[in-house]
Amino acid sequence: MVAETLLTPASLIWPLFVTEGQAVEEPIATLPGVSRWSVDRIVERAKEAAALGIPCIALFPNTPRHLRTERGEEALNPDNLMCRAIRAIADAVPDIGILTDVALDPYTAHGHDGVVDAQGRVLNDETMRILVDQALTQARAGASIIAPSDMMDGRVGAIRAALESEGFHDVQIMAYAAKYASAFYGPFRDAVGSGGLLKGDKKGYQMDPANAEEALREVAMDLAEGADTVMVKPGLPYLDIIRRVKERFEVPVFAYQVSGEYAMIEAAAAAGAGDRDALVLETLMAFRRAGCSGVLTYHAAHAARLLAG
Ligand code: PBG
Repeated sequence: MVAETLLTPASLIWPLFVTEGQAVEEPIATLPGVSRWSVDRIVERAKEAAALGIPCIALFPNTPRHLRTERGEEALNPDNLMCRAIRAIADAVPDIGILTDVALDPYTAHGHDGVVDAQGRVLNDETMRILVDQALTQARAGASIIAPSDMMDGRVGAIRAALESEGFHDVQIMAYAAKYASAFYGPFRDAVGSGGLLKGDKKGYQMDPANAEEALREVAMDLAEGADTVMVKPGLPYLDIIRRVKERFEVPVFAYQVSGEYAMIEAAAAAGAGDRDALVLETLMAFRRAGCSGVLTYHAAHAARLLAG
């Protein structure tokens, strides 16, 4: 009766990895319990999410190696893996939210989120123009929330303007506003197949873990450019940022409990160092207490089952 915070499936977003083929489930070694699914199987996951009361899923493609190029052109193909998954889900499960990632890392041969110059530095403005087309490609396929995770400056405003001009007034933007250059993304990069390809690091465009005020400036810019909601990423090591963003801006804040955080919980449970279900629910509750409207978590379906009792 006196609990100050509620955790329900309504605040969970389930990230899912899509791969080519039919009836395919490919387990991901560094993310025990998480698989890549072919489009037909992803539709089943979307149905499962809806039945569990999870309002939204997030999609990430494992683009076949031969389609990855210097400039990530496959991101703009209206029949790419991502768009086929979006259309299939929107058809079969019309009420579920489909959050789509805007960034080039699953499509580039070098694993960076944008186009790079000869020195390997990401070219902000050139990348931004491609990201706008990527966002439109996803919106045309039926995405409900566009989530730019690339951290280029100015992309939220450019994407918003493009969405408006094509009549996508109801498509939201959830900006990965404060995204840190983190050591917790390793298993994700395995999952989308960009890990082995990545040259250098992403410190040129992702944030320094030492900085909090910079996160507030990043959030302020994305909101001014038209973001509907903002995200902090990774999650648990950055609860202070979540709290400060919530208090300063009073907008819906989301956290991404990223792949390395998921893997830590699974490793702790496997080693007998903690109870898996309790760890899952306690960490998710912590996000809510810190001020999150919702959390992207690979534990979403499991947590929703636990919450259903
Ligand atoms: C890249 C992207 C990353 C994640 C989501 N989008 C990784 C990165 O920035 O290298 C990480 C998610 C996770 O670790 O679960 N656009």
